[in-house]
Amino acid sequence: MRSPCVIVLGAQWGDEGKGKIVDLLAGRFAWIARYQGGHNAGHTVVIGGRRFILQLIPCGILRGASKAVIGNGVVLDPQALVDEIASLAAAGVDVAGQLFVSNRAHVILPYHRSIEHAAESAPGRLRIGTTSRGIGPAYEDKMGRRGLRVADLYDPALLRDHISESLAEKNAIAQALFGAAPLDAGSILETYQGLAEQIRPFVADTGALLNAAAARGESILLEGAQGALLDIDHGTYPFVTSSSTTAGGACIGTGLAPTRLTGAIGVSKAYCTRVGGGPFPTELAGAAGDDLRRRGNEFGSVTGRPRRVGWFDAPLMRYAAALNGLDALVVTKLDVLDELARIPVCVGYRGGDAIPPTVAGWGAIEPVYEQLPGWQTSTEGVTRWQDLPPRARDYLAFLARVSGVEIGMVSTGPERDQTITIAGSKLEQLLGAPTGAAAQEGARVRGNSARP
Ligand code: IMP
Repeated sequence: MRSPCVIVLGAQWGDEGKGKIVDLLAGRFAWIARYQGGHNAGHTVVIGGRRFILQLIPCGILRGASKAVIGNGVVLDPQALVDEIASLAAAGVDVAGQLFVSNRAHVILPYHRSIEHAAESAPGRLRIGTTSRGIGPAYEDKMGRRGLRVADLYDPALLRDHISESLAEKNAIAQALFGAAPLDAGSILETYQGLAEQIRPFVADTGALLNAAAARGESILLEGAQGALLDIDHGTYPFVTSSSTTAGGACIGTGLAPTRLTGAIGVSKAYCTRVGGGPFPTELAGAAGDDLRRRGNEFGSVTGRPRRVGWFDAPLMRYAAALNGLDALVVTKLDVLDELARIPVCVGYRGGDAIPPTVAGWGAIEPVYEQLPGWQTSTEGVTRWQDLPPRARDYLAFLARVSGVEIGMVSTGPERDQTITIAGSKLEQLLGAPTGAAAQEGARVRGNSARP
């Protein structure tokens, strides 16, 4: 049997709680690799009451045994990486010998941030509501074949020429289009030379490392950032991030051969959120939305922006399941729904479930809801399926059934131990864990229980 090589990704618009789940699963993997995005991600992990927010370094780093990789598909702000390494060190986590940064990852430069900022605030421009980290402009330069890669930081002449030539062009664009003040090449060069030396010990050919590890039979977890619906191709374009967040991106963004993969796990909230602009068919506005936002503490971990909130959207989950070939689902933040008397779930779209390719098409969607009875009992911290209130179990079984994906794990709070693992589930099989005797529990979450 092949050793597990599993993708864990967000099945919605990001912020599904992947940080906690990756941290939890990481203990069972030799390697954890990030494959796209940059420090626009904010993966929150709470351990023993201490809150860690990781933006670039895979959450698995907090499990001492795993090796962590920042893959070639990530766009890297070296300053953000140095800051994150320092904040982990201050918390007693030493990443030396454990962290590997791809020599092929593209580098974010200060002009990526300033151009993005200027473009996002310019009148007449479509406002995406980005995280203002320079992510999109860095990927533009990558695809335009004018980017700077981590390995290039160590070629002094190339680095100097790249910065001065790119900056001449970027300054001209920023000035002409947005009236922005020019940046200074000399100070950028000096800063990046210093940063390059600080990250040098971590730089490696990570694709080669991962393929060699897989060949040796070592297990690998591929950690997605953002979520499937923010994918540059398959998401709610143009209100997306600039990378391939879906499972296909995991191989491109690490160099790991597709034939190594053994499965994909999606992470979804028991409801839905998104941050930034763009379509959101099940969005809940007004006081009820404020209430759900407050109960779920739905404020961005990177930008602090209030997240938009809404109900679980089964057509979108079916879409995410198909795009990513999801084998199992992890449902997070179940406890946020504890007080509700009725919980709407979008089971379809009037006129069909086809996912529209245009913003106008998204605007025309009319969700069809079923109302499920709430359980109105605390589920916070519940760790066993049988200890959930029957209506909460029915709710989860319903989500599994309308999504067509089996639920393998349920999160009932931010701590590692506030988690229900469904014995005998496909998720356990994917992790290479023995299948338990309690398969009956699993059957219910596969959506086989009677409809509530
Ligand atoms: P960018 O990735 O900063 O270019 O932002 C593009 C869109 O993706 C915006 O709507 C952001 O709010 C959203 N986004 C980026 N990163 C995350 C994330 O980690 N969680 C949720 N949304 C994100």
